[in-house]
Amino acid sequence: METVQTQATIAALLQETRRFPPPPEFTARANVQDPGVYEEAERDFEGFWARHAESELEWFRKWDRVLEWDVPWAKWFVGGQTNVCYNCVDRHVKGRRRTKAALVWEGEPGDSRVLTYLDLHREVQRFANALKQLGVQKGDRVTIYMGMVPELPIAMLACARIGAPHSVVFGGFSADALAGRIQDAQAKVLVTQDGAWRRGQVVPLKHFADQALESCPSVEKVVVLRRAGNEVAMKPGRDEWWHELEAGAPATCPAEPLDSEHPLYILYTSGTTGKPKGVLHTTAGYLLGVHMTTKWVFDLKDEDVYWCTADIGWVTGHSYIVYGPLSNGATSVMYEGAPDWPDKDRYWRIVEKYRVNVLYTSPTFIRTAMKWGPEYPRRCDLSSLRLLGTVGEPINPEAWMWYHENIGGGRCPIVDTWWQTETGMILITPLPGITTTKPGSATLPFPGIAADIVDEQGNSLPPNTGGYLVLTRPWPAMLRTFWGDPERYVQVYWSRFPGKYFTGDGARRDEDGYFWIQGRVDDVVNVAGHRLSNIEIESTLVAHPAVAEAATIGRSHPEKGQAVSAFVVLRAGYAPSEQLKHELREWVAQKISPIARPDDVFFCADLPKTRSAKIMRRLLRDIAEGRALGDTTTLTDPAVVEQIKQRYVEEGKEEA
Ligand code: WTA
Repeated sequence: METVQTQATIAALLQETRRFPPPPEFTARANVQDPGVYEEAERDFEGFWARHAESELEWFRKWDRVLEWDVPWAKWFVGGQTNVCYNCVDRHVKGRRRTKAALVWEGEPGDSRVLTYLDLHREVQRFANALKQLGVQKGDRVTIYMGMVPELPIAMLACARIGAPHSVVFGGFSADALAGRIQDAQAKVLVTQDGAWRRGQVVPLKHFADQALESCPSVEKVVVLRRAGNEVAMKPGRDEWWHELEAGAPATCPAEPLDSEHPLYILYTSGTTGKPKGVLHTTAGYLLGVHMTTKWVFDLKDEDVYWCTADIGWVTGHSYIVYGPLSNGATSVMYEGAPDWPDKDRYWRIVEKYRVNVLYTSPTFIRTAMKWGPEYPRRCDLSSLRLLGTVGEPINPEAWMWYHENIGGGRCPIVDTWWQTETGMILITPLPGITTTKPGSATLPFPGIAADIVDEQGNSLPPNTGGYLVLTRPWPAMLRTFWGDPERYVQVYWSRFPGKYFTGDGARRDEDGYFWIQGRVDDVVNVAGHRLSNIEIESTLVAHPAVAEAATIGRSHPEKGQAVSAFVVLRAGYAPSEQLKHELREWVAQKISPIARPDDVFFCADLPKTRSAKIMRRLLRDIAEGRALGDTTTLTDPAVVEQIKQRYVEEGKEEA
């Protein structure tokens, strides 16, 4: 965000005319069927949220005021008391859901476990007591560094139960990244596991944790879950086995009544520069936001099996594997490992095995599946699916179509959901029973949410003009601040456009008011004064039959300021050639505009991605401009960039 360019608008070049109205049989059963919800929420957004807070959540004490808004400081349901764990677990145990599957877990090696709400209730209480015995009190921070095992949500819920904010650190992060996050949160306890399964290998989490802890004096106790069975060093007096602690812990632990604004969790997002930012979410507003969006966007029914493929180390997993689904009493599937282990059909096997009805995944995964080819999903029975979702990046219209046809069998609506770690909950999204979708558009703000697109001065822009996406009104699940750094919170989100939350994304709105997200505003190319959005050029490339994935960047150019460079991954069955390069350049020129024609096209086997599955264009820019690579700690697979870099340099030499 520090590098935002100063031109007022971003050119909008992509034209998409396909329309998908909700199938009438879907609408007939949908949780939301009345388009009047938008107007109703618009008339009185506080009343809208308050009505649902009353009817959808359980409270120990009702609130006095719905919202206190002293820009940019929000307090929701002031004076109220509730407990997130109570709403996610205890209330379901009181009724007919007590023996319903809460978590259906599939281990990478093929083992599986099902935890009913009653099981979850028992496990969470024991672990909450175990934490208390280790000295954790309300307000103390607990860092959780685990793989995708059921004990991860159990640990989170146990923290929520006693009011100890958790900080989950993605299990793919290094010891250094973990140490920085523990230090920032000043965590008292670390929960980890011996090792995590990934592509048949054991990732030695406890070993990394030991390295991290050398520089983390705040941590008094470490809890270690046995999962992979690899050997670990246990430090006497500090380290305890999960199973031993649990065995010795009392069985009942009441859920603590907590103020609405009590901190629920900290989740670090790595900005492009500087130290990670500890996004703080609090209790009641967050719970309401994720509860309502889960119910309305994923249209969950009691009999549904729902699967979000994200890792719980990211916000998507927090909100839409754990808190949103469990608050709704849903059955939430969790998968431990890689999508191509032991084969590239693993996700589809899981859909078939558990008869998944609602699937939520990322555009990156969809493009990867496109690259692998449709024979993998074809091997499996996907007929249980009735609704599909995506999150994390703009979805290229062709990837949307591929998902629709090859996974959804042409019958499932797709919800393309825009939101952020900071927003906590989905904010721009279709409601699948009422919204006509357009491939590539996240469509409309959720009822009660107000978004706008503005120019440099903060003026609202007319339709089909790209600009900055802002949010103009508070929402219940919004971040409250950065942990320990309120000034930075004000500066990053609220200083650019006074009174408005700056998302950092570029977008345009079409004549129907639909939002088309163009990606981060620091991810645009400026060719001869035209600001082009990478996502639109990439989507055009992906629409070519030979292309599975594409990343474009702006590379310094003596005349044009910047020139477009394209990095392209081909679909199975296509080979790189000079002819194809030429064809792709002309394809873009013809489909978008000659201005957007890539100066060069570079074929590669894979693209560098963050561990949360976003393309890292920054590193491609470094390569293209011959600079040393910037921070690579968030990369999924550092070998990918190294390979690209080496081949890029070699090709450059050949051409010279
Ligand atoms: C991008 C993930 C287009 C966007 C929940 C946002 C999207 C950032 C979409 C947040 C979408 C997320 N369409 N872009 N449907 N969803 N993004 O914090 O740039 O990991 O600002 O949260 O992802 O990423 P984060």
